[in-house]
Amino acid sequence: MVQEGQPQVREKGVWRANVRLWFVAVISITLLSACFIASCVVTYHFTYGKTGKRLSELHTYYSSLTCFSEGTRVTEKVWGCCPNAWKPFGSSCYFISTEKRFWSKSEQNCVGMGAHLVVINTEAEQNFIIQQLNESFSYFLGLSDPQGNGKWQWIDQTPFDENVRFWHQNEPNFSAEQCASIVFWNPGKWGWNDDFCDTKRNSICEMKKIYL
Ligand code: BGC
Ligand code: CA
Repeated sequence: MVQEGQPQVREKGVWRANVRLWFVAVISITLLSACFIASCVVTYHFTYGKTGKRLSELHTYYSSLTCFSEGTRVTEKVWGCCPNAWKPFGSSCYFISTEKRFWSKSEQNCVGMGAHLVVINTEAEQNFIIQQLNESFSYFLGLSDPQGNGKWQWIDQTPFDENVRFWHQNEPNFSAEQCASIVFWNPGKWGWNDDFCDTKRNSICEMKKIYL
């Protein structure tokens, strides 16, 4: 019912109510949009971002990761993570496979776990790895000489460094042995041996840590 009298006061009241309604509507829409955009960014980061892509890739093989706080300064602190059964060292995770396979099957096994056969880049890495091994077995490395001409190649294309070679004495010794393994030979020393690719050996897989 339209009331008589004071029409201006009434119109002002209606106008104020409208403004308030619009204000609430605009604020709500803005907030909803902000939430929507934020959730898109978060979803994108964890679905398509580098970390998220690797996390979801690893999740297809591993149900849980173990993470260690890394970095010395508080501002640099990140979490470096490896799948549970893997050993962390430097920026990598290592898995010692005690199932014996040919070299190419050993590599396939690593690839199937999102990794590759180990690439040894430093003496520190070699020293870490030998602490994980059983002296009774040989373990395939990600190192091969596919042509049998002494051109040894790391499986991830890392150049084969003159200064980072841990061959046993008198190895490599046979061009038909085109895959490298690491083995403990007397007198009490771990080192590399050129070995037959179609011999069944234990193996060592390596993958990059995932940083959170
Ligand atoms: C291995 C060779 C190795 C030799 C050293 C053999 O049993 O198969 O790869 O070079 O031992 O003595
Ligand atoms: Ca040999």
